[in-house]
Amino acid sequence: MNNFKKAVEFLKDANSIAVLTGAGISAESGVPTFRGRGGLWRKYRAEELATPEAFKQDPVLVWKFYDYRRQLISKVQPNKAHEILAKWEKGLKNLTIVTQNIDGLHQKSGSKNVIELHGNIWEVRCIKENKIFKYEENPIKEFPPRCPDCGSIIRPNVVWFGESLNPEILSLSFSLFENSDIALVIGTSSVVYPAAHLPLLTKKSGGKIIEINIEETSLTGLSDIFLKGKASEILKGIDSLI
Ligand code: OAD
Repeated sequence: MNNFKKAVEFLKDANSIAVLTGAGISAESGVPTFRGRGGLWRKYRAEELATPEAFKQDPVLVWKFYDYRRQLISKVQPNKAHEILAKWEKGLKNLTIVTQNIDGLHQKSGSKNVIELHGNIWEVRCIKENKIFKYEENPIKEFPPRCPDCGSIIRPNVVWFGESLNPEILSLSFSLFENSDIALVIGTSSVVYPAAHLPLLTKKSGGKIIEINIEETSLTGLSDIFLKGKASEILKGIDSLI
């Protein structure tokens, strides 16, 4: 049986499917990835733009980087891969997406069961009161933007290097992958932890890993099925057989 048919059988037979997505799923929408060709961390230094220390030292610079990304993301649309996952949420049993992406494109394509591991680029947090709220000014007019209530600087509500993930979101994600029959891993280099650990939990508890990527990753050796290609094309292929 070829890998596509095998993937279709796995997905149809599953009682629960945990999907892990990374920057690769949004690449075809025009959102740059981090580590591949044209990746953000090839052009910019992460430690100067995506750490709490960088923000403390130069909040304006960090905010300009996020303003650039917000403007870019506001102009793009979900692609076929996001759309097919949203459709499968209705058609397949218990499908939940855990995404490392902060672009909100899964929700924009109609997915409801979405857990954002690294936050959301349209949310901010007041550094004084820790209050989290939506902040959609685009482009941002004054840098650094401030909390409308207390006047303190606000920061993007995203996870930066050296920061811990929200413990509730993390434990929800751990138990989701532990209790799923299938981990469907799409467009991630699988080098950033703890996200990269999630599919291994599924495997450890007897489930299978299906991986979709344009190239092999550090997860590929452990994947039960590796489908090489663009996320939208591979998902279209699977969807046509479901
Ligand atoms: P990376 O940039 O590390 O990896 C993107 C992956 O997507 C690579 O493995 C590519 O081969 C693959 N890819 C590219 N285009 C694709 C396509 N059309 N279809 C399928 N796969 C494709 O991005 P992530 O793994 O998401 O964290 O990075 C993880 C985290 O590192 C991010 O969430 C971010 C970053 O630093 C934080 O900011 C906390």
